Amino acid sequence: MNKTYLVTGGAGFIGSNFIIYMLNKYSDVNIINVDFLTYAGNLENLKSVEKNENYKFIKADICDAEKIEEIFNENEIDYVVNFAAESHVDRSIKNPSIFVKTNVEGTLNLLNAAKKNWEEKDGVYKKGVKFLQVSTDEVYGSLGETGYFYETTPLDPHSPYSASKTSADLIAKSYYDTFKFPVNITRCSNNYGPFQFPEKLIPLIITNAISLKNLPVYGDGLQIRDWLYVKDHCKAIDLVINKGKVGEVYNIGGHNEKTNIEIVKIIINKLNKSFDGRINENLIKHVEDRKGHDRRYAIAPDKIKKELSWEPITMFEEGIEKTIEWYLKNDEWLKNVLSNGYLDYYNKMYKNLV
Ligand code: NAD
Ligand code: TYD
Repeated sequence: MNKTYLVTGGAGFIGSNFIIYMLNKYSDVNIINVDFLTYAGNLENLKSVEKNENYKFIKADICDAEKIEEIFNENEIDYVVNFAAESHVDRSIKNPSIFVKTNVEGTLNLLNAAKKNWEEKDGVYKKGVKFLQVSTDEVYGSLGETGYFYETTPLDPHSPYSASKTSADLIAKSYYDTFKFPVNITRCSNNYGPFQFPEKLIPLIITNAISLKNLPVYGDGLQIRDWLYVKDHCKAIDLVINKGKVGEVYNIGGHNEKTNIEIVKIIINKLNKSFDGRINENLIKHVEDRKGHDRRYAIAPDKIKKELSWEPITMFEEGIEKTIEWYLKNDEWLKNVLSNGYLDYYNKMYKNLV
């Protein structure tokens, strides 16, 4: 019998990549995509699978207890993969409340609905079910010049975004500790690839560059992120659902640390030739630093490699070329996303820049 996945936030960047990955890989899975279609959700991302008979979309808010319960009652759900979230640190600095609502209350609501539907008797659940909470490496806070985040590293979030994700992560863990509810938690580093909303560093730099706009670099640009191609994250999530030990946390990352300024210069270099040299370092503009800006993230993925034999496949050189090419080829997608209120946001954020 087909396993049924309830994927929340499946119209966003990683969620849509995950749905496409799963439907391409397996012919015997059903996917129900539950997404509220906020500014970050875009059904265009799922065009390639929308007619697949194993795929279904339901527009719903994960905070809507009644609706989520109804979805559980009307479908035989085996797995929940909770991607749905407010995901952008800069927005969380401007408006923290929605982050607590969606990321904390929404996750709690999903946990309650799944628990209610799956629990056969006290602490005993339907066989084989699992709830995967998609968390983030940002729950660990910031590193100095050396060292890595392990699953045992104390949680020390700094932004309202990462604090809300940490709360959700801990609530999911508490459901395992308290109710033996079958949970896994994944903490992945920064993703990049197709369908990422152009408010995040890599797509923002690509889309600004190709419109010959300035390229905003926060502060000195020497902050470090550990970049992973989105498909490798999807592969890890698939492994954790199917093979992860219940109750465990798995870090995901490909040991690909780069400073932000390095990322910006790599993108400039890749685009420079095709744009007759007009895309060059003169476009870089150092702007005011982000408040509470975490300096360095770096994941130790030893556990998932050892226990689940996960390995990233796409190295950065190849991944960034594929990503740039994707944004160049998908100008219609970009135009639609930009006209969808994004430009207002951009102009507010960077009013003195262009
Ligand atoms: P995204 O912002 O691109 O997508 C979020 C999706 O959630 C959107 O489709 C949006 O419509 C939906 N959503 C928002 N509020 C909702 C609600 N109340 N009910 C239902 N749907 C709602 O985010 P992303 O970058 O794809 O990240 C997905 C998940 O992965 C998030 O939980 C994020 O914290 C986590 N994560 C992201 C990264 C990264 O680098 N992007 C890294 C590690 C973990
Ligand atoms: P972002 O893509 O927002 O991811 P996160 O903050 O979750 O790591 O930002 C990645 C890094 O790039 C982060 O250090 C902030 C920096 N940054 C810029 O320098 N300029 C920008 O315009 C943006 C969006 C981010």
